[in-house]
Amino acid sequence: MKKVIVFAGSNSKKSINKQLATYASELLENTTIELLDLNDFSLPVFGVDLEEEQGIPENAIKFLDKIKSSNGIILSLAEHNGAYSAVFKNLFDWMSRAEQKTFMNKPMLLMAASPGGRGGASVLAIAKDRFPRHDAKIIEVFSMPFFGTNFLDGKIIDDTLNLELTTKVKEFNKAI
Ligand SMILES: Cc1cc2nc3c(=O)[nH]c(=O)nc-3n(C[C@H](O)[C@H](O)[C@H](O)COP(=O)(O)O)c2cc1C
Repeated sequence: MKKVIVFAGSNSKKSINKQLATYASELLENTTIELLDLNDFSLPVFGVDLEEEQGIPENAIKFLDKIKSSNGIILSLAEHNGAYSAVFKNLFDWMSRAEQKTFMNKPMLLMAASPGGRGGASVLAIAKDRFPRHDAKIIEVFSMPFFGTNFLDGKIIDDTLNLELTTKVKEFNKAI
């Protein structure tokens, strides 16, 4: 069976992006899901001196192995000050030092959720521009605004947004 790795670009225990990514993964058919949590892949802050002294930490290699072993990626990015969260950027930087083709041409469903009305538009724009340079194969992009009112008990409760996500998950499902 095809395997999809599912994670949030966040280290929050209550991450809204983790909740959204989990919900999207539940809409997949005939697929094995592996939920990953960046808290299980702790890494020192990237620095060229540290890299020279100690090499690339095992957890960055382990995460790359997760990508390699998958047939697709569901990733929902937290937006911090208009960009990636520090924890995601740090992982991305370390991984890119070991493997420039970080996302290994795996089909990706790229998402972002925010409590406000922009739905992580800024971080999505950054990722849409940058990830393909690291061999991301972005199939669909989904933005989830006003998480607090549109999401309840593990599900999207706004019909329009739910239909949009369901349609995009189907396209992603076909691509893996
Ligand atoms: C340091 C910091 C900066 C933030 N900057 C933004 C921002 O630029 N845009 C936005 O929509 N939300 C911003 N937020 C709110 C986050 O979207 C919110 O905390 C959200 O829950 C993060 O996703 P997560 O729960 O998956 O970690 C920020 C939050 C923090 C802690």
